Amino acid sequence: MGTIEFFKESIKNLRTVGTLTRSSKSLCKAMIKHVDFKTANVIVELGAGDGVITKHILKKMKKDAKLLSFEVNAEFCKQLRAINDPRLVVVEDSAEYLERYMKENNWSEIDAVISAIPFVALPDELGLMIIGECKRFLKKGGLFIQVHYSLLAKKLYQKVFGNVDVNFAPLNIPPAFVLVSEKR
Ligand SMILES: C[S@@+](CC[C@H](N)C(=O)[O-])C[C@H]1O[C@@H](n2cnc3c(N)ncnc32)[C@H](O)[C@@H]1O
Repeated sequence: MGTIEFFKESIKNLRTVGTLTRSSKSLCKAMIKHVDFKTANVIVELGAGDGVITKHILKKMKKDAKLLSFEVNAEFCKQLRAINDPRLVVVEDSAEYLERYMKENNWSEIDAVISAIPFVALPDELGLMIIGECKRFLKKGGLFIQVHYSLLAKKLYQKVFGNVDVNFAPLNIPPAFVLVSEKR
C-alpha cells in the first residue's frame, strides 16, 4: 500500500487509525530495538496497520518464532496477509480478544508486545482491558512497547504495569514517544 492509499484509509477511519501517516523507518527501529529477538518465541503486535512495523519485526525474528498481529481494518489486513510469511499470524479482530487467539494457537506466554493502537482515542476502560490482557500473558521480564504522539495515555501503562520508561523519537514526523513497560 502506498503513502496516498494509507492516507485515504486513515481519513476514512481516523478514530480507529489515529494518525494520517504510518510509522517512519527510524520510529520502527526505535520501537523494536527493545526486543530481545535472540530469545523471543512469541511476539504480539497490536494495531499493525498495513504492516510497516510488522516487516521490521519479521526481519529480526528467529526462523521458528511467531508473530501474532492484530488489526481491525479489513483493507490493512489484506496488505498484512500479502506479506505471506509463515511466521506471521494475522488476526482481523480487536486486540481485546487476545486470549482467544493465544488459546487457538496453543501459546501460553508472550515475550514482547509491540503496539501502535491509538489508546488516547479509545475509552480508558477498553485501553486498560487490552493492556491488562497483554500483561497477563507476558512472561516475567517481558516488555510492552507502545508508540504515542503525546504522553496523555502514559497513566494507563503506569496503572497496569507500575512502571513506564519514556523514550523520544524526534526523527519521526510528527515526533513520537516510545513508551516501554516491563512485567515485573
Ligand atoms: C496509528 S495506526 C498504526 C499503523 C502501523 N502499525 C504504523 O505504525 O504505522 C493504528 C492502527 O491500530 C488499529 N487499531 C485500532 N484499534 C484497534 C484494536 N482495538 N485492535 C486492533 N487494532 C486496532 C487501527 O486500525 C490502525 O491501523
